[in-house]
Amino acid sequence: MVTEVRPPRDDEMAAYYRALPFANGLPNWEPEDAAWHGGPEPWPPQRTPASEEQLKNWAATDIKDEAFHPIATFVDGRCVGASAAISFEVTVPGGRTGRMAGVTATGVIATHRRRGYLRQMMQAMFEAALERGEPLAMLSASEGSIYGRFGFSPATYRTRWELARHEATLLSAEADLGSLELVDAAQAKKVWPRVHAEVRAHRVGELKPLPGRWDGLSDAADGTNGPLRYLTHRDQHGNVDGIANFRLPWSPTTDHAGMLVVEALEAANPVAYRALWGLLIDFDLTKAVVAAGRPLDEPLRWMLTNPRAMRITRQTDNLWARLLDVPRALMQRSYQTSGELRFTISDDQMCPANNGTWHLTAGKSLSTCVPTDETADLTITISALSSLYFGGMSARHLAYAGHITSHTDDAIGQLARMLWTDCEPHNSFGF
Ligand SMILES: CC(C)(COP(=O)(O)OP(=O)(O)OC[C@H]1O[C@@H](n2cnc3c(N)ncnc32)[C@H](O)[C@@H]1OP(=O)(O)O)[C@@H](O)C(=O)NCCC(=O)NCCS
Repeated sequence: MVTEVRPPRDDEMAAYYRALPFANGLPNWEPEDAAWHGGPEPWPPQRTPASEEQLKNWAATDIKDEAFHPIATFVDGRCVGASAAISFEVTVPGGRTGRMAGVTATGVIATHRRRGYLRQMMQAMFEAALERGEPLAMLSASEGSIYGRFGFSPATYRTRWELARHEATLLSAEADLGSLELVDAAQAKKVWPRVHAEVRAHRVGELKPLPGRWDGLSDAADGTNGPLRYLTHRDQHGNVDGIANFRLPWSPTTDHAGMLVVEALEAANPVAYRALWGLLIDFDLTKAVVAAGRPLDEPLRWMLTNPRAMRITRQTDNLWARLLDVPRALMQRSYQTSGELRFTISDDQMCPANNGTWHLTAGKSLSTCVPTDETADLTITISALSSLYFGGMSARHLAYAGHITSHTDDAIGQLARMLWTDCEPHNSFGF
């Protein structure tokens, strides 16, 4: 048996897609979301597997795409496993952008699982990312028990909340001199990239969108979900500074009727943010608002007379992070407080250059991270450092759970003060 783990050649791309679950591999006779289907609704319509022509078209696009780096496992020439890294830019603490390998579309066919193929593909992707100068990898995990062993750990969360219209009133604030407007999809396509770019510059964890990110916006109805509607805000000078996508879905039950669903909302400043939410939470003829994929620390809660009106109904980890090149990653972000810390990493089997004791000297603008022979203040696992990197997790909790061992009285406090960010990291879309 000959096993090869390598990027697929151009003429192997169709086989590569077929190995991916839900593309054209297992279970290709089932609808896309079959594995997650758990509701009372009828079984979703059957999906048609991708045709040869579709596979060829995907290949033609992916081969040209310099940001797309596929990897595959071949056993005796047959493609049995696939994954890919996409080169992204992600906002790191301090507002700089860091280069990041976004791991996605991972699958090993059922008959070949648990033979170490994912581990080998991950190793190959890490090495290729390091060669491209990407000191960090991120992914979203289908199951929480898969990726910790590769050094990934949650870095951002997403929250779904609901709000009852009759309980939600905005606190009074200065009059908004700007204006709101309902626009069509063509206009929304123009507005989204501008607003997102402004927001991304300040939001730790946010990704630079891939080309075509908003091409699919449309005014057409999506079954019972109804059409997407677009609400924009202009400041007093006429510049668009906020946008929301929302739906008013049809519902077969009175329980869920009158629910306004906010699918996305971005605002470049608090005035636009308040104005957009102000209309959406008090939309005539609706009873409630639901918003998913939102950050943990939604400022809207603090704008309400009754903050309890907003109820979190679901919260899950979103992107997981993995530092591939610890010194480089730590030097590209900035720190809340200037300071020094010596830390030891000894558990990184996949990127062994990260093991050793490091001396981090952090300033707000310039930081260094170099190997040292000095005694460490603490020992930290690669996954804990990866979680803390974007500043949203608690160093104390990770220490409590045994991922960090302190060797001095204040080492955990110093780590927490240095890495913390005052705004929770968040990414508004995944990959
Ligand atoms: C998840 C998947 C890609 C793993 O591939 P694989 O080739 O079986 O993984 P490996 O054999 O390299 O396993 C590496 C390690 O992860 C563990 N592991 C793999 N999948 C796991 C899972 N779903 N749950 C828990 N542990 C898992 C293995 O036991 C092994 O552990 P070890 O290093 O302690 O021995 C494959 O099972 C799959 O395609 N699943 C369905 C689709 C899916 O979930 N894709 C992930 C999308 S994010």
